Amino acid sequence: MIAYPTRMPTPPLLTITDYEALARERLERGAFDYFAGGAGDERTLAMNTRAFDRFALRPRVLVDVSRVDTSTTVLGQSLPMPILMAPTALQRLAHPEGERATARAAAAAGTVFVVSTVASTSIEETAAATTGPLWFQLYVYKDPAITRDMVVRAEAAGCRALVLTVDTPLLGQRERDARHGFALPPGIEPANFAAMHHLVAARAASQGESPFAAQVQQLFDPSLDWKRLEWLKSITRLPILLKGILTPEDARLAVQAGVAGIIVSNHGGRQLDGAEATILALPRVVDAVAGAIPVMMDGGIRRGVHVLTALALGAQAVFIGRPYLWGLATGGESGVKAVLDLLRAELELAMALAGKPNIASIDRSLVSEAPA
Ligand code: FNR
Ligand code: LAC
Repeated sequence: MIAYPTRMPTPPLLTITDYEALARERLERGAFDYFAGGAGDERTLAMNTRAFDRFALRPRVLVDVSRVDTSTTVLGQSLPMPILMAPTALQRLAHPEGERATARAAAAAGTVFVVSTVASTSIEETAAATTGPLWFQLYVYKDPAITRDMVVRAEAAGCRALVLTVDTPLLGQRERDARHGFALPPGIEPANFAAMHHLVAARAASQGESPFAAQVQQLFDPSLDWKRLEWLKSITRLPILLKGILTPEDARLAVQAGVAGIIVSNHGGRQLDGAEATILALPRVVDAVAGAIPVMMDGGIRRGVHVLTALALGAQAVFIGRPYLWGLATGGESGVKAVLDLLRAELELAMALAGKPNIASIDRSLVSEAPA
């Protein structure tokens, strides 16, 4: 008799899309939709990846690519690849080890992990789990004492930069979450607020809003403006990057404000639906900044060629969000590491086939606007 396996074998995981499909099978619907979803009609979410199709690559030939070097330097730190990990909230919804697993995988890959303010593991516990480089993503709260406390703790935990997210004065309209009534399951909480638990009690969700959104909405300060950035600079010695810039106008203001860098981002399509795809916004921001400070980007990166395209358009590095969450959901620490290895291998091959043996050799001449 043939013994049939009781469980279907894991299909080969060749692409980020394969990881996503497996994560969809493994995760509870509410958690998957929180991770996968975007705001409104999810136009921006879809455009982020699709807009890469607007650019065609112009490979050069007869270049020695027997060695391809993906290493680079970001904020003075040398990294083996220009792929960093964007802040994403509540990773214990994907895997019991959550942020700790992600941090360990980032360290194994030698890259930066930006820890979210809304993490489900405290910054101290995440830092204790890894020796790798961590940056801290910050939201600004109605109560300045909370913001200050987060900054002090991020510094004490050894984070090397602050990433101030500027596209979230209010949470975007996340309709998947509203339909599921998405709320944190027992045992999962925004751990950085644990000491201030009384503040986290959700106000009642209003129509069209999930309980989670109500909770967040209660804390974030929608009056945050450029003036308050001065205050933030005065309470930290860490470099501050602004995440969520999409226009040359704001990029110029960011340079004037003296920040250490810009991350062109639309929050993975989770905030203003209809906002421009980041790969289209990137070159205009790069031109406006004119080399004054580093410009990086995130949004829609699912392939090595996407990374290559972003670098060609002037990004010093890129960040990924959902791709590593799919790795986390399907394989914990080793799943995250596998996703990082996959993207790095795809980037290496793409660089070789494009005749670009190192990061410095990648410039705008590599891309042209693709015919429609
Ligand atoms: C995010 N993002 C995000 N950004 C941030 O500044 N603070 C946060 O807490 C979160 N949380 C979060 C949760 C989830 C589930 C997702 C998918 C995203 C946005 C994130 O940092 C990044 O901008 C996008 O994820 C990039 O797009 P891709 O790579 O997911 O397409
Ligand atoms: C999100 C928030 C928490 O995108 O940044 O879900």
